[in-house]
Amino acid sequence: MLKSIAIMTSGGDSPGMNAAARAVARTALYEGVKVWGINDGYHGLLEEDMRELESKDVGDIIQRGGTFLGTARCKRWQTPEGRRQGHENLIKRGIEGLCVIGGDGSLRGAQLLSEEYGFPIVGLPGTIDNDVWGMDYTIGCDTAANTIIDAINKLRDTASAHRRVIVLEVMGRGSGWLALVSGISGGAEYIIVPEEEFNIEEITKDLSRAYEHGKRYILIVVAEGAASGQEICDYIAKHTDIETRVSVLGHIQRGGSPTVIDRVRASQLGEQAALALISGLSGVVFGYSKGHVVSVNLYDAVNNKKKLDPDYLHLAKVLF
Ligand code: F6P
Repeated sequence: MLKSIAIMTSGGDSPGMNAAARAVARTALYEGVKVWGINDGYHGLLEEDMRELESKDVGDIIQRGGTFLGTARCKRWQTPEGRRQGHENLIKRGIEGLCVIGGDGSLRGAQLLSEEYGFPIVGLPGTIDNDVWGMDYTIGCDTAANTIIDAINKLRDTASAHRRVIVLEVMGRGSGWLALVSGISGGAEYIIVPEEEFNIEEITKDLSRAYEHGKRYILIVVAEGAASGQEICDYIAKHTDIETRVSVLGHIQRGGSPTVIDRVRASQLGEQAALALISGLSGVVFGYSKGHVVSVNLYDAVNNKKKLDPDYLHLAKVLF
């Protein structure tokens, strides 16, 4: 059984990271294990910016977006020398295991530490993109999707008032999950995701016909990794007489108080991660799949590309 572990959050923040870190820390403390909080992800590990946590250090954070530990994207971690230094910084404090909360890039960094040094690692999927292989949920995706829905509801009001086509660009460089679920639940007419081919000419012809048949407005949700919202907007404006507007939601999607789902799931995953790490398990990521906590091999999680749910893709077509 491990006696001292550390937690960090890394990469893009996501609502619920605090709930997860709190659960890891309190579970470890409950089990009589020391917990270190590393600030600003791998960057803080390299800078030796870390402190031992007490239960009160994770008080009053479950309701907060962002991450009380801070986060960063760290280039030095991608080098063997960076990882050697990071490993040394853990060892010299007697830290025996690390819980990394982050997206696929951060989990890949954790996998390398585990592979190169045999250092015990347990990952938690913290990203609004919901793009970690082997699970259907990542911490923060529910809050982000709800933020997008709120934007869609508001855009619908103004689109309908002006008979406009409004294009909403949402996050998702490599994954269309956010665009797909928010488009389905927001009733968007078109959803454009990086995983699927799309034909802007066909969409434009199609929506022109809909306007000729009396449609007052159209909402298009596009994932940033599939196309730029502005370009979609400009194309439609150039080839029709319909007024168009674009809205780029940006980092608003990353913030905000986490939903109940994100808080409860992050807490449960945090507890499981701490218990697993303490008991000597390593090289796994805990996630949710089909309503249950699952543990996925860390190597598999970072070396496979998650696909969009074909049922959701089909539903989006049926409901259009
Ligand atoms: O957290 C993942 C993600 O939200 C992507 O969807 C987005 O492209 C990226 O982060 C933006 O990251 P940054 O905060 O570094 O601009």
